[in-house]
Amino acid sequence: MKRITFALLFGVLASFCANAQVQVNVHEEAENQPKIHKEIYGQFAEHLGRCIYDGIWVGPESDIPNINGYRKDLVEALQTLKVPVMRWPGGCFADEYHWMDGVGPKENRPMMINSNWGGTVEDNSFGTHEFFNLCEMLDCEPYLSGNVGSGTVEELAKWVEYITAEEGTMAQLRKEHGRNEPWKLKYLGVGNESWGCGGNMRPEFYADMYRRYATYCREFDGNRLYKIASGASDYDYNWTKVLMDRARGHMHGLSLHYYTVTGWTGPKGPALGFDTDSYYDIVAKSVEIDEVLKNHEAIMDAYDPQRRVGLLLDEWGTWFDVEPGTNPGHLYQQNTMRDAMVAAMSLNIFHRHTERLVMANIAQIVNVLQAMILTKGSEIVLTPTYHVFRMYNVHQDATYVPTDYNEGQLVSPSGRIMPEISVTASRDAEGVLHVSIANPVVDKAQTLTLNFDEFKPKNVTGEVLAAKTIQSYNDFGKEPAVAPKPFTAIKKNGKSVTVTVPAASVVCLTF
Ligand code: AHR
Repeated sequence: MKRITFALLFGVLASFCANAQVQVNVHEEAENQPKIHKEIYGQFAEHLGRCIYDGIWVGPESDIPNINGYRKDLVEALQTLKVPVMRWPGGCFADEYHWMDGVGPKENRPMMINSNWGGTVEDNSFGTHEFFNLCEMLDCEPYLSGNVGSGTVEELAKWVEYITAEEGTMAQLRKEHGRNEPWKLKYLGVGNESWGCGGNMRPEFYADMYRRYATYCREFDGNRLYKIASGASDYDYNWTKVLMDRARGHMHGLSLHYYTVTGWTGPKGPALGFDTDSYYDIVAKSVEIDEVLKNHEAIMDAYDPQRRVGLLLDEWGTWFDVEPGTNPGHLYQQNTMRDAMVAAMSLNIFHRHTERLVMANIAQIVNVLQAMILTKGSEIVLTPTYHVFRMYNVHQDATYVPTDYNEGQLVSPSGRIMPEISVTASRDAEGVLHVSIANPVVDKAQTLTLNFDEFKPKNVTGEVLAAKTIQSYNDFGKEPAVAPKPFTAIKKNGKSVTVTVPAASVVCLTF
């Protein structure tokens, strides 16, 4: 009954609001605006299910076309995406990973059981060299997640030395393994989810552990580390408070994890074939990240008003039930227009937090959770989420342009509030203005008039990501059901531009 009431209320609000025309004021003349850190478009690759093996790495002997063992189709798709940073090797896996097992001749690398993720046997054929070489191919920053839960201070310290030192025992070992020059390593995570799979610690205890581990991660030969403390999950504000109170002077960044999931126990709902109520509930849950970020940021502001310590949302995205017939520990889920909407609305929010939020890493890059790419044998699928990340990559490192508009509000069937429309804008290094719009309403196009401070739009082009239904997805061996198309519903009137954004679509405009 409650559900019917919310559904009715939702329907009434939606049709009432959706008839309104939305006036959007774009303040392209606003001064002193922050940069949208390109790292907000970061990725995450864990030894989990088919992310590393099958997804990224097939080995040089594979029949699947590859470049020295990396899938060629994946590398090309990621180059187009412009991946700024990639986090590895976990996740929960990181706190059981012993990096020495993954260097040197492959035949000598020991096997291990990946006990976090389905008990799969890990042969360590993808290790430090394979990861750093991939980052070089993609021209992205590596972000290492170090083992605090089951590793030692010495082990983590030596990993940093192995990667970054020019001389010494660890550098010598790296050279013997075929790499003369050190790599650069900036982002170093000291543990992952230390409140849970990373050791079940209390924040007070972890704060001290963090300080100890971080102390011995040295900077060699001009390499500068950006040390990141393992942060809170979702609404655990106490974790952030304790870490800021006790360890802020020793960290450059503090992480946070927020998944769009209906609950951790019991079914999470299917990634495909969901109903409209579930669509709104998921999108509404995803935009709650705005409030969660604000609350963590307020705590950080109290301890660090200069905003020296960055906030890194180094895991986020949708989490549904695995696809039927797949290993429950492998977290393989399909990806629909609903995921695309979550991605666009989340990125729009992240842009507004860019003064504190310096990185975000969607989970995960391939074959796991809200993936960019899915693979099956030699086939590859670019997901709707991939397309949003590709369309939005123009915002990477661009200057934030404030917008104001009456966003209207919807109430989802489970009572969550979400905006009826979501807009973001930025100006890139060449002075080009980009405006991205997400219309989450399933059954109504919305007309937006963009009013600029001074700017007189001349050439406007656009792309739209829309599909037959919100359940549409891209499948193996089929024509893509969700792919960007040129957007032409644009009218110029002097200093303003009117666009009609289709129902449940994402539009990116370039001025
Ligand atoms: O991304 C999957 C898992 O989610 C990660 O391993 C862990 O950090 C989080 O709980």
